[in-house]
Amino acid sequence: MTKVTMTVNGKTVSGEVEGRTLLVQFLRDDLRMTGTHVGCDTSQCGACVVHVNGEPVKACTMFANEADGATVSTIEGMANADGSLSVIQQAFQDHHGLQCGFCTPGMVMSAAALLKENPRPTESEVRDYLEGNICRCTGYHNIVKAIMAASGQDVSQIAAQ
Ligand code: FES
Ligand code: FES
Repeated sequence: MTKVTMTVNGKTVSGEVEGRTLLVQFLRDDLRMTGTHVGCDTSQCGACVVHVNGEPVKACTMFANEADGATVSTIEGMANADGSLSVIQQAFQDHHGLQCGFCTPGMVMSAAALLKENPRPTESEVRDYLEGNICRCTGYHNIVKAIMAASGQDVSQIAAQ
């Protein structure tokens, strides 16, 4: 077992992990932060996306000890300081960007990374960026719409699904 220490959503946390422990396991099982989901065992679904040192990462593709010393952000840290939904989360709610919600944490974390890098993406840029995030319910249309709305763009001309 190895000791790891990292900053998760602004708090310093430590734990003992095996070499094979994945970051997503450390977050969910050790820290009990279960907002980051596991939706596959093939690194395809993106339900586990978190930010590590500001970059979006599938937390099932990284060992916990590789994140030693890193700054990690998860869906639990996305809300505003007063507990209200962030702009992206509110846009998902307003534009019906979720149904069962299983993919949503990863979608929101990916959306946040996209908007940081490209504050006013086109519809096709949003669709391209979400290539690594699978949603089994929504058909993606309203997710794309929500992300474009969160970027401040007028989505009234985008047809409702
Ligand atoms: Fe990480 Fe599916 S659980 S990509
Ligand atoms: Fe159900 Fe996306 S809302 S998987």
